[in-house]
Amino acid sequence: MTDLTTTDGTPISRFCFGTMQWGGKADAVDSRAMYEACRKQGINFFDTAHGYTGGASETLLGQFIAEERDEIFVATKCASTGDCRPEAIRRDFDESLTRLGMDQVDLIYMHRWSDEVPLEAVYEVLAEWVQAGKVRHIGVSNYAAWQVMKAQAVAETLGLTIAMLQPMYSLVKRQVEVEILPMAVSEGMAVVPYSPLGGGLLTGKYAGKAEGRLTHDPMYKERYGVEWMHKAATEISSIATELGTSPITLAVAWVAVNLGITAPIISASSATQLQPSLDAMNFELSDTLYARLSALTPRPAPATDRLEEQ
Ligand SMILES: NC(=O)c1ccc[n+]([C@@H]2O[C@H](COP(=O)([O-])OP(=O)(O)OC[C@H]3O[C@@H](n4cnc5c(N)ncnc54)[C@H](OP(=O)(O)O)[C@@H]3O)[C@@H](O)[C@H]2O)c1
Repeated sequence: MTDLTTTDGTPISRFCFGTMQWGGKADAVDSRAMYEACRKQGINFFDTAHGYTGGASETLLGQFIAEERDEIFVATKCASTGDCRPEAIRRDFDESLTRLGMDQVDLIYMHRWSDEVPLEAVYEVLAEWVQAGKVRHIGVSNYAAWQVMKAQAVAETLGLTIAMLQPMYSLVKRQVEVEILPMAVSEGMAVVPYSPLGGGLLTGKYAGKAEGRLTHDPMYKERYGVEWMHKAATEISSIATELGTSPITLAVAWVAVNLGITAPIISASSATQLQPSLDAMNFELSDTLYARLSALTPRPAPATDRLEEQ
């Protein structure tokens, strides 16, 4: 649950759309088509980053929302390269605002944790932006739970609250269930997880000869190159066939229904690809089906390792 709203006071939508492919695999026409499909479905929450597609993602997003800025919640990220030095994040954010054509973003995430720059130095810059009205809310991505709490302690001394977390989460990447999700519920932080399809694995297409991110990008190939993950992708496809739906719809709906999840970040390379992810917004996942899907992949051990108490 979250009380975050657009500047016209509308609550953020139950799904967010991620623009990481815009200006890359998706050209401007495809990107615009995806933007319009999202708007038609009631999505008012868009995610980008300084580091995406050399700036094209932010530029396209700024163009598409120009006519309806107050109706859209825009989240971007700084320190995408991991360089969290104050001068680096100032440079990133100035560029982001220019590309987006805005003088304020609704939320800025620190894209990564840094061991090299003291938290005080980073969060003082974020506090400056909030005070100057350039940023409405702050968030963090790819932080461990202890890092979130440590950063929040520093943020609090500057009058800031970490409002949103952006971890990875899907049926084949469930680590957040151990600490991040319970912490977020306890602290009232919004959770907006990325890669609900495991970068495309849970579409089921890699059971055949399909090409995509997992065949082209070595990082994704390694991240999802585990046999049990591919087996789970095949199994979710069989369940989808049995139920007359898409494995994509099931995988996204499964992420969305978990306790503590505010809005999964859906994405695609084209509007046609996107439709089954959008369909998940209206898919009623019963408790029985939720349990059946959850059983396809290992539940991570609790932080205490006392498995017998689970
Ligand atoms: N904070 C971070 O570090 C971080 C990291 C990653 C992503 N993100 C954010 O989260 C968003 C979503 O992440 P993600 O793109 O990894 O999500 P995802 O939903 O796990 O993967 C989306 C990809 O799956 C494939 N796909 C989707 N629908 C398909 C269909 N119907 N048929 C075939 N293939 C299909 C496409 O890739 P192919 O066409 O290449 O196969 C698509 O780009 C990103 O846009 C970004 O905003 C954040």
